[in-house]
Amino acid sequence: MKMTVIGTGYQGLVVGTCFAESGHIVTCVDWDKERIELLKQGEIPIYEPGLSELVSRNIEEERLFFSDSLEEAVQNCLLVFLCMDPVLSYSTIDDITRPVLDIVKVIARMMTGYRIIVNKMTLPPGTADKIKEVLKENTQHPFDVVVNPDFLKQGTAVDDFLRPDRVVVGCEDVRVQEIMKEIYSPFLRTGKPLLLMGLRSAELSKYATAVMLAGRISIINQIADLCAVWGANISEVREAVGADSRIGQTFLFPGIGYGGIWLPRDLDLCILFAKEKDISYYLFDAIQKVNKERCEKFLSMIVEHYGGNIENKILTIWGASFKARTDDIREAPSIFIIEELLRKRAKLRIFDPLAGPKLKEKFGNQIEVASKQYPVLEGSEGLLVLTEWNEFRRPDYERMAQLMKEKVIFDGRNLYTPKTMVSYGFRYYSIGRPPVG
Ligand SMILES: NC(=O)c1ccc[n+]([C@@H]2O[C@H](COP(=O)([O-])OP(=O)(O)OC[C@H]3O[C@@H](n4cnc5c(N)ncnc54)[C@H](O)[C@@H]3O)[C@@H](O)[C@H]2O)c1
Repeated sequence: MKMTVIGTGYQGLVVGTCFAESGHIVTCVDWDKERIELLKQGEIPIYEPGLSELVSRNIEEERLFFSDSLEEAVQNCLLVFLCMDPVLSYSTIDDITRPVLDIVKVIARMMTGYRIIVNKMTLPPGTADKIKEVLKENTQHPFDVVVNPDFLKQGTAVDDFLRPDRVVVGCEDVRVQEIMKEIYSPFLRTGKPLLLMGLRSAELSKYATAVMLAGRISIINQIADLCAVWGANISEVREAVGADSRIGQTFLFPGIGYGGIWLPRDLDLCILFAKEKDISYYLFDAIQKVNKERCEKFLSMIVEHYGGNIENKILTIWGASFKARTDDIREAPSIFIIEELLRKRAKLRIFDPLAGPKLKEKFGNQIEVASKQYPVLEGSEGLLVLTEWNEFRRPDYERMAQLMKEKVIFDGRNLYTPKTMVSYGFRYYSIGRPPVG
């Protein structure tokens, strides 16, 4: 089938490439011409494990194409997938939907025949109905609108797309439902479900999933605070809680909170949806508030250790991306922490396995970005661990202790055991466990 994917970011590039991999002819479009030029040469502007190889192979096999011409792409396909993010800032639901509807209007005017418009972006309930209205007003050609939210996770996005837990399809037309089943069938051979539902249920499914996941993180973080003040250890409590089959272990790790642009935005939007219909939103609000508090608490712990003044302290940071296996630092908890530490005039050296270039772009010479994990510790008066990268989990403790001027670690992801830290002579702070050493 011929497909157009609009947007070549973390979502669009994965979606387009994986559909090409299963045999479809896919054109990925982006308004960022530089990005398209890079992609045409097989270079990918983001990091996602396994993606680069797939992009190269599918370009070579002439199934995957890149273009900055929306018109050409829309004229030569059956399905148009919306995977962009045209939103600049938002304080209302309209700020989110308006830019999308503007693009749909342009698409409508470019259509040369029947098209299926598939929304994969996370958009407010009711947006698909508005997309239909805009299409109706701006084209004579027939169309169908599908809501097909994405549950992929940055860092494992390719795998998530190729082996989804479920595929959600909001669609009213039986023939279009069959087309959606057909294009997803290669990814559902292990028996995972394709769930057909109404447009608004599909739209809300994505937000509901975000709330459940963010909620678990805020709950465990608030329990971690209880553990800290009552002398319990959150790692032990977490094990006990997660062993309950009704609860499970995933998304139950205490730390400096969730980040990235999407999860916090999804929660913000749920609050707006509730406000719009005048219903209560205590829980959504609490989840966000608890999350925002995490970085502040972490910072207080650091400043307190140094007696209230961190001016000119040489602090090393390991990890800045909002989660492991991505180079994305947008709205990462680390960014808030780095900005606050800079405001307090600390001297920062940062190592992240992938996010170095993005950090340099954002902070320029305000920080020192290192390319290696250990040399950056030399003469350091404290180490902050902010992302749960695998390479930070079992480091060379002895080497760390030798390199650091002051042996103190602030672990924002609870990667180490207090006992080990004490044995290497570190003062060790973590989340939901009393400081040791
Ligand atoms: N990243 C994720 O983990 C994830 C997961 C599920 C859903 N989503 C959804 O996917 C959508 C995109 O997210 P992303 O992470 O890929 O964003 P992104 O910022 O990485 O990429 C967005 C891309 O869209 C392009 N773009 C924006 N407006 C455009 C336009 N009018 N025409 C052509 N290109 C345009 C941008 O240049 C950019 O390359 C969002 O709605 C998000 O909610 C993302």
